[in-house]
Amino acid sequence: MGNAGNRDKAREASSAYTKEADEEDINIQATGCMFCRRLLGEGDVLWELDWDKDREKKREECLRAYRGLEKKETPGKLPDGPQGIFFMALSALRPFASEGMLPCRESEQASVMEFLKSSLRVHIKKEVLYVSGMPGTGKTASVLDAAKRLEKARSSSSNSNTPIKFAYVNAMCLSTPSAVFAEIQRKVLGQAQKRKRGPGPGGDGEEALRQALTQAGGEVVILVIDEVDALLTQGQTVLYRLFDWMSQPAARLVVVAIANTMDLPERLLPRVSSRLGIRRVNFEAYNRDQLHTILADRLRAGGAEAAIRDDALKLCAARVAAAGGDARKALQVCQAAVQRAIDATATNGKEPEAVTAAQMDKAEAELLQRNPVAVGIMNLNLKPRCFLLGMVLELRKQNAYALPLKTVTRRYEAIMRILQQRDEGAGKATQPVSSERCAWECLEYQRRLEDCCIIAQYALEQKDDGEGPAMGLGFVSSIDVSEAATALSVAPGDEIAKELLDLQPPCPYRRLS
Ligand SMILES: Nc1ncnc2c1ncn2[C@@H]1O[C@H](COP(=O)(O)OP(=O)(O)OP(=O)(O)O)[C@@H](O)[C@H]1O
Ligand SMILES: [Mg+2]
Repeated sequence: MGNAGNRDKAREASSAYTKEADEEDINIQATGCMFCRRLLGEGDVLWELDWDKDREKKREECLRAYRGLEKKETPGKLPDGPQGIFFMALSALRPFASEGMLPCRESEQASVMEFLKSSLRVHIKKEVLYVSGMPGTGKTASVLDAAKRLEKARSSSSNSNTPIKFAYVNAMCLSTPSAVFAEIQRKVLGQAQKRKRGPGPGGDGEEALRQALTQAGGEVVILVIDEVDALLTQGQTVLYRLFDWMSQPAARLVVVAIANTMDLPERLLPRVSSRLGIRRVNFEAYNRDQLHTILADRLRAGGAEAAIRDDALKLCAARVAAAGGDARKALQVCQAAVQRAIDATATNGKEPEAVTAAQMDKAEAELLQRNPVAVGIMNLNLKPRCFLLGMVLELRKQNAYALPLKTVTRRYEAIMRILQQRDEGAGKATQPVSSERCAWECLEYQRRLEDCCIIAQYALEQKDDGEGPAMGLGFVSSIDVSEAATALSVAPGDEIAKELLDLQPPCPYRRLS
């Protein structure tokens, strides 16, 4: 293969990476080496090897060259010279830096792959795979990896008789739920059809798509719909139309739906759920050992395990596991700690040393402080913090993203009574706690916290009684429940939050973004 071909492949690979990364709002360079992410200059040729055959070998070489030095064995000590290892660690900890099988997700990935393969074998089998689990548990990464591996295997296999096409749609990024049809069409047919017939069945390119997907001898489309709960409209018409396509005898479509909520299939109306069977795979939150394995594995794969001490990695894994087991957050905390180490060596000129547990601790606190909503929570007085504590406890317990004010008020009153008893026990003067007073205070805190953009009102998923959907309280999209819990438990002098949050293990909840 010539240089130009290799260069094109490198550029193509790095821009594919950028495209995926953009969907996660990560700002990375558009043309970088796909292994070490160095910027490529004009005419810069990465290597003259067969891309696929020598890929692994080249990856190693590339990383070594970028690091500039061989690793030394002394624990806690980094090689002399530039802080290359820190930059390699930053690269290894990037959200999409891991390719292929994810550690600690082997059985879930196998289930996804098994579903896809069996659906392709009998593509008239009418089942949707429903992938659920807490944020950052590897749902999207696992499904994308399985679908891509299958697509690649099919395209390279000479005896494959069912060509497949893979299409990914994130429902959270659509302007309206019904825009999903135009988006699927764009992904499947490579174009968006002009809207001729307005919204509703048959419009938004739905007919052209239906034809393409039921055409005999065409490709089987593996459609992955991420954050599928964003398509849940009141009458569930969008999901009904989508499931209706799939249930057509000639439909060549395999659907994988991903969401944070476990109970979405139960919330489907009978006319929707009766169209198809639902197979489930649930992704449990990572525990600390798993998070430690994931982080260590990432660093090892990037040749940067010496950048962070093992006790620091363990601390990060334990903290993040306690706050909901989100691998994305664990990666962010480690990246922030490495960035601190880079800044420190740049300013004091000392020999770079591996990130310590104390640095990791600081990085975690700093990360939280970069979120103005978390800072706002930390600076609140005790009573509004107790109001938010009541919200966090109930949101976790009910696995919900919003709650009626009266539920929060009940919790708030219970917290106030605990505080009153403690004050009395300590001989402090107390004010009587009454339901009326608590109701009045909660109404006031709701208004103030909405004004401060810490909480907001959302429509609750209850049956509509003809007067529009009931409204509930949830956190604004820039902070999730586990971050709010951390902000409450680190607020100085707030023992009640620490105690109550420790008592209640985190439960799956829905993230609004
Ligand atoms: N087992 C793992 N090994 C390595 N990296 C992982 C693992 N699980 C998750 N990650 C990384 O964590 C990040 C979040 O993963 P992913 O986007 O798949 O989570 P998700 O479950 O889809 O979350 P959300 O519900 O928020 O969309 C990604 O960068 C992914 O690469
Ligand atoms: Mg996801």
